[in-house]
Amino acid sequence: MSTTPRLSPSMAQPWVDRYESMMQREVPHRRETLAEVAARCRELATGSELHSILELGAGPGTLARRLADQHPTATVVAVDADPVLLGLARALRHPRVRLVHARIGAPEWRARLRLEGPVDVAVAVAVVHYLSDEQARRWYADLAHLLAGQGSLVLADSFVQAPPYATSPPHAGPVTTTDPATETWQQWWAAADAEACLRALREVDDTFGPSCDGDERLEAHDHRRWLHEAGFSRVKETWRRGSHAVLLATRR
Ligand SMILES: C[S@@+](CC[C@H](N)C(=O)[O-])C[C@H]1O[C@@H](n2cnc3c(N)ncnc32)[C@H](O)[C@@H]1O
Repeated sequence: MSTTPRLSPSMAQPWVDRYESMMQREVPHRRETLAEVAARCRELATGSELHSILELGAGPGTLARRLADQHPTATVVAVDADPVLLGLARALRHPRVRLVHARIGAPEWRARLRLEGPVDVAVAVAVVHYLSDEQARRWYADLAHLLAGQGSLVLADSFVQAPPYATSPPHAGPVTTTDPATETWQQWWAAADAEACLRALREVDDTFGPSCDGDERLEAHDHRRWLHEAGFSRVKETWRRGSHAVLLATRR
């Protein structure tokens, strides 16, 4: 039986750094977005410490580790469907980050989390655009259930406003180099696939396959409505730059 290959931290860290550089190039206002999500979590911890944070589509786990450092009383459950990104996260393990390989929305996905109680805060950065509208509605209902009668959901993505649509600054033109400082999402993945130890992670376990049924353009008002319908009593936009926004949805 094949076992999941283990990467050493020294092998994984440069790939995670390179991934983050790529994301900063690909996603406008990336640093500010992550800072806003962390700030909302800090605000939610005011008055009562966080014990359980769930990160959806955590990728290589950078934000999960950061949140664990910022919330010493919390366990962070970081879930992702991709074995390569999860393998990188596993190599850089944090004692209070628990990694879960699951496709959110698939049957039994909530059971795979093995949560011991309600989640205080759930966060998802650059993930909702992977979902079809129907999947997003189901996610929100599932999350309302996991957050029980309290708790909050922090969503960061490209949520456009009603027409005329606000636009983000255009990305730089096509990139032909594979210089890690300027590479695109596709180039990062091509480089990762060419690296035997990362390719092996997918070869051993690609249970969930590729995970994108979504649409790059999410309508903010639809998502706000679906969140309300799912049981989030308050939904507010806490930050916006062009089409990039952070939504905070609270149960109570
Ligand atoms: C653009 S990446 C963002 C990763 C991370 N949140 C970040 O900001 O660096 C989207 C991530 O969501 C994950 N993903 C998308 N749909 C998913 C699903 N249904 N279940 C679990 N993970 C999912 C992908 O595997 C990928 O790691």
